Amino acid sequence: MKLEKTFMNFLLEHQMRHGRTLNFVILMESIVTAAQYIEYYYYTGALKKNLGEAGQTNIQGESVMRLDLVANQIVMSYLTQSHQVIEATSEEHSDEVLLAEGGRYFIYFDPLDGSSNIKHSLPVGFLFGIGKRCLDGPEDYHLRKGSEFIAAGMFLIPAGVFTFALRNSGTWRFIKDEAGIYIRPEQVVIPETQSSWELSFNTANLTTYAVPVQRWLNENSPKYGFRYAGSLAVDLHRLLNNGGMFLYPAIVNHPNPGKNRPSGKLRLMYECSVAACLMKEAGGAAIDERGNDILDITPTHRHQRSALYIGNKVITEEMRKVLQS
Ligand code: AHG
Ligand code: MN
Ligand code: MN
Repeated sequence: MKLEKTFMNFLLEHQMRHGRTLNFVILMESIVTAAQYIEYYYYTGALKKNLGEAGQTNIQGESVMRLDLVANQIVMSYLTQSHQVIEATSEEHSDEVLLAEGGRYFIYFDPLDGSSNIKHSLPVGFLFGIGKRCLDGPEDYHLRKGSEFIAAGMFLIPAGVFTFALRNSGTWRFIKDEAGIYIRPEQVVIPETQSSWELSFNTANLTTYAVPVQRWLNENSPKYGFRYAGSLAVDLHRLLNNGGMFLYPAIVNHPNPGKNRPSGKLRLMYECSVAACLMKEAGGAAIDERGNDILDITPTHRHQRSALYIGNKVITEEMRKVLQS
């Protein structure tokens, strides 16, 4: 009988090897449990099409499907019970949520990414980034930039894939076995061979991008494959496998100027920074519209938006030059 190495075995081994606490293991147990229940509600609700629009809008002014709220409640509940989190930031709460004053971590999460995929029975994601409290003095509660995240992760639901980055220790992928356990750590490294590279962006927005970005896309698109799932989690998963670049640029040339999004669409803390951590530890890079590294952007607001260009280092550097020209 071959017994597989589980995610928890892997994590415990990592913590012990680096002389770290078990608090982080407790926190991660609550996150994995939450992901299991989100998947359960995806199967029992979303897939059977009895989870519709909730008839509410989230704080971003977007219509929220019920599974977003269900997922948010699940994550909040298990985080609370872990007693490890000082303060949580969720896409679904306008303000921070105080959980355990004596906790050790800060968490920033998107409980359900790609919600427009639900009604088509396509996969969704659960994205999270984790910061740690200041251990050398009083906690100042500042919002952590990506380079301060100690870990970040992404569940693909219901595909049963969990991608997890530990700062300076790589990006790892786990698959869910028939017993419902995440197993078989496999290190993820973005491929450098350009033959498999793909570009991923919303082509409908092409003419709304900054002119140099449009020019670069027009010149370079023919060299690469193209895929766009409309869910960062799904697109990032594919990008990590095949290489290339995912971009959600600033919208600055919309025919209706009221629809411009000069700061981009995606959220810095729980989408861009999470993706950037996973990408950095897999050997790639991520920048914003100014060509600054996503991981170096200190958030001033927990729901701050950012443009995102993410992928292999070579192609991201090329785009940085375009953006800074
Ligand atoms: P969410 O479902 O959490 O609101 O996120 C959706 C995001 C992201 O996952 C995706 O890459 C992007 O929105 C797609 O936007 P467009 O439909 O504008 O392409
Ligand atoms: Mn999202
Ligand atoms: Mn969401």
